[in-house]
Amino acid sequence: MKLSPSTLAAVLATLAGNTDARTLTQQSSNTKNLTFDVLDYVDPLIGTANGGHVFAGATLPFGMAKAVADSTADQQGGFASDSSTISGFSHMHDSGTGGSASLGNFPLFPNPGCPDNDLNLCTYRYQSRAIGFSNESIIAQPGYFSIDLDSGIKGETTVTNHTALYRFTFPSSGTTAPMIFADLIDLPQSRTNGTASVNATTGRITGTGTFSPSFGIGNYDLHFCVDFSGADIYDTGVFVNDRAGNEPKTVRTLDDGVDNDESYSAGAFTRFSPGSLSVIARVGVSFISVDKACSNGETEIPEFNFEGTKDAAQTIWREKLSSVSIDATGVSDEFQTIFWSGLYRAHISPQDYTGENPLWDSIEPYYDSYYCIWDSFRAIHQLITLVDPLSQSRMVRSLIDIYRHEGFLPDCRMSLCKGYTQGGSNADVLITEAYLKNITDIDWSTAYEAVIKDAEVEPTNWGIEGRGGLTSWKNLGYIPTDDFDPYGQGPLTRSISRTVEYAYDDYCIAILAKALGKTDDYDKYIQRATNWYNMFDPNTTSLGYAGFLQVRYPNGTWGYQDPQFCSALLDFTSCYLNPDGHETYEGSTWLYTFYVPQDMASLIDALGGQEAFIDRLTFFHESGLLYVGDEQSFLPVYQFHYGGRPGLSAKQAHAYIPSQFNTSVSGIPGNDDSGAMGSFSTLSMIGVWPVPGQDVYLINPPFFKEVNITHGITGKIATIRNVNFDPTYTDIYIQKVTRDGKTWTNNWIDHSFFENGGVLEITTGATESDWGTSVKDLPPSLASYKF
Ligand SMILES: *[C@@H]1O[C@H](CO)[C@@H](O)[C@H](O)[C@H]1NC(C)=O
Ligand SMILES: *[C@@H]1O[C@H](CO)[C@@H](O)[C@H](O)[C@H]1NC(C)=O
Ligand SMILES: *[C@@H]1O[C@H](CO)[C@@H](O)[C@H](O)[C@H]1NC(C)=O
Ligand SMILES: *[C@@H]1O[C@H](CO)[C@@H](O)[C@H](O)[C@H]1NC(C)=O
Ligand SMILES: *[C@@H]1O[C@H](CO)[C@@H](O)[C@H](O)[C@H]1NC(C)=O
Ligand SMILES: *[C@@H]1O[C@H](CO)[C@@H](O)[C@H](O)[C@H]1NC(C)=O
Ligand SMILES: *[C@@H]1O[C@H](CO)[C@@H](O)[C@H](O)[C@H]1NC(C)=O
Ligand SMILES: *[C@@H]1O[C@H](CO)[C@@H](O)[C@H](O)[C@H]1NC(C)=O
Ligand SMILES: *[C@@H]1O[C@H](CO)[C@@H](O)[C@H](O)[C@H]1NC(C)=O
Ligand SMILES: *[C@@H]1O[C@H](CO)[C@@H](O)[C@H](O)[C@H]1NC(C)=O
Repeated sequence: MKLSPSTLAAVLATLAGNTDARTLTQQSSNTKNLTFDVLDYVDPLIGTANGGHVFAGATLPFGMAKAVADSTADQQGGFASDSSTISGFSHMHDSGTGGSASLGNFPLFPNPGCPDNDLNLCTYRYQSRAIGFSNESIIAQPGYFSIDLDSGIKGETTVTNHTALYRFTFPSSGTTAPMIFADLIDLPQSRTNGTASVNATTGRITGTGTFSPSFGIGNYDLHFCVDFSGADIYDTGVFVNDRAGNEPKTVRTLDDGVDNDESYSAGAFTRFSPGSLSVIARVGVSFISVDKACSNGETEIPEFNFEGTKDAAQTIWREKLSSVSIDATGVSDEFQTIFWSGLYRAHISPQDYTGENPLWDSIEPYYDSYYCIWDSFRAIHQLITLVDPLSQSRMVRSLIDIYRHEGFLPDCRMSLCKGYTQGGSNADVLITEAYLKNITDIDWSTAYEAVIKDAEVEPTNWGIEGRGGLTSWKNLGYIPTDDFDPYGQGPLTRSISRTVEYAYDDYCIAILAKALGKTDDYDKYIQRATNWYNMFDPNTTSLGYAGFLQVRYPNGTWGYQDPQFCSALLDFTSCYLNPDGHETYEGSTWLYTFYVPQDMASLIDALGGQEAFIDRLTFFHESGLLYVGDEQSFLPVYQFHYGGRPGLSAKQAHAYIPSQFNTSVSGIPGNDDSGAMGSFSTLSMIGVWPVPGQDVYLINPPFFKEVNITHGITGKIATIRNVNFDPTYTDIYIQKVTRDGKTWTNNWIDHSFFENGGVLEITTGATESDWGTSVKDLPPSLASYKF
């Protein structure tokens, strides 16, 4: 179904809420190059190799259904470009995660028929059915994925919010009955029990399973419902490992399986008349019930219309990405593709499970797959805030609702379960930032209650929520190494990184307290915001630099962890979330020493002043100590602004893009972590770097001649224009800036620019200038700058 222009305008108007259809039509004809299709510049395969774990399949923005062909190796996000076999097509995924694979429940597997139509000559088992594919056949677009399997079957998929739609095209020479079966397995092979049934008349396959989350505790039930269209039913039945039969029509797998084998394959199949060329399979999914899974499919895709569903999905994506427009004159397709693909990936998660939450009744939105906030609070939510503040509002509301019903804000959450906390309680940062950026419809009094609870109440299991060591935190002013903490349990590692994160979380709480008029609380938390300094040892040295965060025991004496330890230069992988994970999480003390976004002036002072700071930060980037593939390294790319050298931030951004962020399948330096890497490159190319938790954007020249961002609520346009734009990126140094025609010397700007619109005109040149270098030009800091 191709939409006519007027239908399209109406669809867009509906999606945009109360916007008048005419306005949208006018906007698109006025401001868009009519031959430009943003989807041509989105490549979902970026980051699908070399551990990027990006989900490459079909999804709607923040949709629950995420369908793709699943690889047999490195399949955290389903499909991996560097894997050579496929184990099936599944309907739900997470994107860019580390650790183990996520979701991938109830995969469909098509085959052209069993030899001699003998059911027992087909291969069902997960371990043996994997099949090769043609690399050249892969087509990945927003809302669509296609692959040709070595069995001669083409598998294509598209989605709505809770339904995956597949079109399987079988080889035309087939004389056997093509089969599609659904396996009760999931990608991490976490199923404990499950059941699948098939209806002999309709071929409908339904089922339920209990699974475990991929980075958290507990379990969840998921339900599915497969309906077929396009071919006559030949027969139906069930299979268990490599055996199958037409009777019975239901199969169960037991909790802990007969042989304790969670990789035990079992499920139901439907075969189609020999010669059938094409079958549409519609898979509704639901966390509520089988009936809900079926009704999701029936209501969202009543007609089994593959092309229409795909077109609708792609229309939704075009509209979603249209809050940003760029003048790409002179800029390569490579850079445009990095830009738009990053923006696209920021819209994959968190996932909107509103109406699908069996855990509690609520009228609030419910989003899941905050995977994890420790990763997403540094760039993803800032980008969503810029381009889609309504979604950000719904997400913050859902965080607060999770607090209401679970008792704590999450730091990580997936598949209805609590995920592991990696550092601080960084939802506090998101909540304060939402307040400062006028995110609407939030219950601020409950939000405040939630962040105060993080700061004051230690949960029994602080490995999954809240913070640990709160008694020490309050009494000693740091999280001691080898803490004595009988009040709760969690991994007693990361004392350094938790200290700086807790200090920053408390800073954000202080700012919210102040905004809400709670001055006593402000005084208390702003004091705690200085706690980072209690772990700062001026006597620790490394590579010629003095003064680093350092291990500190409850009795106040210093211990020792080499500041290089867990940097890209020394024992890089020794600081994970395991019992001997050491004192800095996924990074070195070199890295964490820079994490004082609340008080960069004091940090600069502690590190020996402006020149020493700039020298150290430059060395950090150029020595190979910094690994830009983990999110804590994003802010240090831009912290030159605080030392009065904004030009060096621009220089570093260009050093990493495209050398570390590019369009190859391995074109991101680390796990995408639900779009974090993509958000880094897109925000960098827009030219404003948001400091998480603050109403501060550090100004850099965009990678384009002009970028417009239309605010999702006010409709106002913020234009960032690059005068003297040099597409070779030699002249990347700001000479002067005007805001709405007036000279702007601050090297940062606040959110009112995006909310109220305006023009930021940046003039660039070949060398650094005086712009943004004086103390009065620098971003806010708790203490005053002393230079
Ligand atoms: C419109 O976009 C197309 C594709 O990006 C490009 O080739 C063409 O030059 C653009 N036209 C104008 C007038 O900018
Ligand atoms: C497809 O390409 C990837 C990446 O180059 C490679 O690892 C894989 O082996 C190829 N698969 C096939 C079937 O050629
Ligand atoms: C999908 O869900 C979003 C909310 O996340 C909603 O705005 C949108 O209308 C839904 N799309 C369709 C086609 O139902
Ligand atoms: C599987 O077992 C769990 C308890 O272990 C139960 O909560 C769940 O409902 C069961 N699921 C199915 C599909 O039987
Ligand atoms: C199979 O589906 C048909 C059509 O919906 C329905 O009438 C019948 O009751 C179903 N059979 C079973 C066993 O549920
Ligand atoms: C940005 O918006 C302004 C005002 O509507 C418009 O004149 C300009 O062409 C737009 N630029 C881009 C790159 O879309
Ligand atoms: C640093 O070393 C000097 C000289 O040994 C000592 O006096 C000082 O107390 C040390 N500082 C800290 C914070 O331990
Ligand atoms: C402080 O505690 C550490 C670690 O338990 C210990 O090695 C050190 O001797 C203690 N120092 C003092 C002065 O008690
Ligand atoms: C693209 O990025 C990857 C990952 O960061 C990097 O390894 C590779 O060298 C880059 N490729 C180019 C051509 O710069
Ligand atoms: C937030 O909204 C208020 C009033 O609606 C306005 O005065 C203020 O400038 C806005 N703040 C930002 C950061 O846009």
